[in-house]
Amino acid sequence: MSCTPPPLSAVRGEILHFLSDPAVDSPDAWEHFADGVLIIRDGHVAELGPAADMRAKLPSDITPADQRGRLIMPGFVDTHIHYAQTDIIASYGEQLLAWLEKYTFPAEARFADTAHAATVANFFCDELLKNGTTTAMAFATVHASSVDALFGAALKRRMRMITGKVLMDRHCPDFLRDTAESGDAESRALIERWHGRDRLLYAVTPRFAPTSTPEQMDLAGRLYAEHPGLYLQSHVAENRGEVEWIAQLYPEARSYLDVYDRFGQLGERSVYAHCIWLDRADRERMAATGSAISFCPTSNLFLGSGLFDLEQARELGVRVGLGTDVGAGTSFSMLQTLNEAYKVLQLNGQRLSAERAFHLATLGGARSLYLDDRIGNFLPGKEADYVVLDPQATPLMARRMANTTTLAERLFVLMMLGDDRTVAETHVMGKMAWRR
Ligand code: GUN
Ligand code: ZN
Repeated sequence: MSCTPPPLSAVRGEILHFLSDPAVDSPDAWEHFADGVLIIRDGHVAELGPAADMRAKLPSDITPADQRGRLIMPGFVDTHIHYAQTDIIASYGEQLLAWLEKYTFPAEARFADTAHAATVANFFCDELLKNGTTTAMAFATVHASSVDALFGAALKRRMRMITGKVLMDRHCPDFLRDTAESGDAESRALIERWHGRDRLLYAVTPRFAPTSTPEQMDLAGRLYAEHPGLYLQSHVAENRGEVEWIAQLYPEARSYLDVYDRFGQLGERSVYAHCIWLDRADRERMAATGSAISFCPTSNLFLGSGLFDLEQARELGVRVGLGTDVGAGTSFSMLQTLNEAYKVLQLNGQRLSAERAFHLATLGGARSLYLDDRIGNFLPGKEADYVVLDPQATPLMARRMANTTTLAERLFVLMMLGDDRTVAETHVMGKMAWRR
């Protein structure tokens, strides 16, 4: 029997990754190597350390890929995005409910066509990789085949993808409506087909409480509880008109979040986008149940939804990740999303340090998805997803970088001026998946 050792590779450059949340554990929250080497075996992190120490640990025939002058970080984790809204990003003039009617529902109707779904899914995955995003939690559409298309595209690229069929059986156009029974049956078939295959995970996906009947909400909560490791994704408390609508639909509920709670939809691996118009009791309930928030700043500004309160979420111990929320969000770039996160928090009298920002985009996102045992940093055994960022990507960035002295300053410039041009390479499970 031949015993071929698993493939080994290495990359050398400036390396930064987080071990915990800098807001809580600073300054031991990260490891930084000005000249480091990351060793990868069989798609997983084998070892990380200063280049001088790592040379002896590598066989003589392995030369690390030379990325000196660039910054290597774990792949970004986008905790909320809609692949079927790729073609309506930057649609003018509306707030949430009118925007859904005018732009979103017509765009999602096109996903009844499986060829269209496959084309968009492939474009979408490439766009994520181009922006350094290696893990995403994404909405598909009400069509089960739209989920097949996205999982298929992610599988080809070996990305970590969490998605699910949208459940929507009322208050939407007929052409996008399922029923409580068909939504449940189709979700179950998709779980059988995809959940746990390679790096793919399934999320029960009630769009938001207004577009599901109590029967559908009940079945969704049961399905989520039934399967180990299953996710649930939805939207909550994004827009004030939406919150008023929910108060009319569910007068008995204490709050919008309480509607999900009553249907058993809070808990570990449940992720709620936006969470702007929550009160303290809601946030306490999210923390107690292990539910996570996806903070989507570009979307919240674009739709005029409101300003997220990161401080209170942290104070109460709620898990928080960052989401682009394309197509209400205006960029696939997690760097641009950090830029706008910083501005949203400024408007709310809060600060987002660069260290906290990059933690949010990597390990924080992984933790919000309960995937921090597999992704989010470079501890040995983790899946080797990483980005190579070019601090000199544009003439302006190069000039501004020349005027920095600390790592924190350089990181802040990266998140304020960076975008897809800054992502020189993206590697998935140790293999190059994108190069500029
Ligand atoms: N609430 C319900 N559906 C959506 C959606 O597609 N986008 C956003 N931003 N909010 C929603
Ligand atoms: Zn969304």
